[in-house]
Amino acid sequence: MVRVMTTTPIALAVLGSGNGTNFQALADAIGAGRLDARIVCVLSNVENAFILERARRLNIPAEYVSPAPFKTKLDGVAEQQTLDRLRHYGAELIALAGFMMIIKPRLLKAFAGRIVNIHPSLLPAFPGLEAWKQALAGGIKITGCTVHYVDAGTDTGPIILQRTVQVLESDTAESLHARIQEQEHLAYPAAVQQVIAKIRGQARGG
Ligand code: GAR
Repeated sequence: MVRVMTTTPIALAVLGSGNGTNFQALADAIGAGRLDARIVCVLSNVENAFILERARRLNIPAEYVSPAPFKTKLDGVAEQQTLDRLRHYGAELIALAGFMMIIKPRLLKAFAGRIVNIHPSLLPAFPGLEAWKQALAGGIKITGCTVHYVDAGTDTGPIILQRTVQVLESDTAESLHARIQEQEHLAYPAAVQQVIAKIRGQARGG
């Protein structure tokens, strides 16, 4: 007798503040069968962020959650509302995709080991804002992107996957960020799939 193993795709929530190209890469990878997940919601702290529009076009629930009372950290009322929405949609894993707020301990604890982020540098180099500009200013020759687990620091959690990008003499901030983003769109689905495989392994007691 042939036994067919079926598993329900992991319920993935995506949090973003901007354009949402990394969210799009995750959604495309799911469509192409490269990522064993379903995106249950997209949440944004920016009301008119294009990531929300991208999600709506794909019929994925997309919600603005006001960041108040803080601008750069997800805390207080905003943290509670985010947690409520994540629970409402049954999220099992969270992918930050250009989400420009610091995650605080309550959310980290509620989703321990289940929050990942993509950052546009080879961490631990150039954490923080506009890492590609930091790389140009630093005169380095190789940069890239990093997918990592989120911890209480800023861009400091354990690294899952990195991809490199060469810095060219002719690079502007825009051209370098564009090439980093090409690598991000490959790295993020692959890294999230690695995390899902690990979660499934743990569930099987491995
Ligand atoms: C990406 O380059 C991502 O690495 C960066 O924001 C951009 C979002 O693009 N994130 C950070 O800098 C976080 N520290 P997207 O909205 O098109 O995915």
